[in-house]
Amino acid sequence: MQIIRLKELLSTNGYASEQLREANPSDFTVYLAESQLQGKGQKGNSWESESGKNLTFSIILRPYFLPIPQQYLLSKVVCLGIVQMLSTYIEGVHIKWPNDIYVHDKKICGILIENQIRGMELASSIVGVGLNVNQEMFLSDAPNPISMKQLTQTTYKLNEVLQELLLSVQAYYEKLKDSKNISTINAEFLKHLYRIGEWHCFTCGNELFEGRIDGVNEIGQLQLTHKNDGQQRVYNFKEVAYML
Ligand code: BTN
Repeated sequence: MQIIRLKELLSTNGYASEQLREANPSDFTVYLAESQLQGKGQKGNSWESESGKNLTFSIILRPYFLPIPQQYLLSKVVCLGIVQMLSTYIEGVHIKWPNDIYVHDKKICGILIENQIRGMELASSIVGVGLNVNQEMFLSDAPNPISMKQLTQTTYKLNEVLQELLLSVQAYYEKLKDSKNISTINAEFLKHLYRIGEWHCFTCGNELFEGRIDGVNEIGQLQLTHKNDGQQRVYNFKEVAYML
């Protein structure tokens, strides 16, 4: 593992992508920014992070061992690494499909994974992580942010949290390299999945419905049973939204 610390960047994912083109970084190189001016979120959103208060970094992975249709496993191991580490500090940490980390109904960590596919191979992956650590007030219109400090009234040493987080994610990533571990990874992921097995409201376009999350299939689609007809349907990211 190599950690490259930078004072100020527009986006660590953007920087990691430049470095992939120019510097050939090795598996598990980490680019960490103290301050990120234009952090990128999912669905074209931006990511709010007060300078020096949180962790904003991107990990370069070289997951050539993973068949392209199984790329969602990367998301799973990253989420599991984060959940395992955070659970040593906080109760009620869950994975909200497809790759948010929630504490009860609030978002503590966002993940933006950008995969580079070459031919039939997953050549590289940029795993961007924004973990809210010591921020006490959020100004953007992001729906429900929360930080470790807001939850525990403790100020954390960013470096310690970073080391623990990276070691935990790396341990899960190493597990993934042995295909014998995949069923355990899948089972562990389901154990931590937010709202699994419970009836809640969802929206799909203009349709509002009550559904129950049964799981996530191999290609990362959410499996939801509709209450009105008892049928299970599968959804891609962006096709369905949770009502919180
Ligand atoms: C989300 O919308 O939930 C994903 C947020 C991802 C934010 C992180 S912060 C570090 C990395 N660099 C970025 O520009 N985005 C990710």
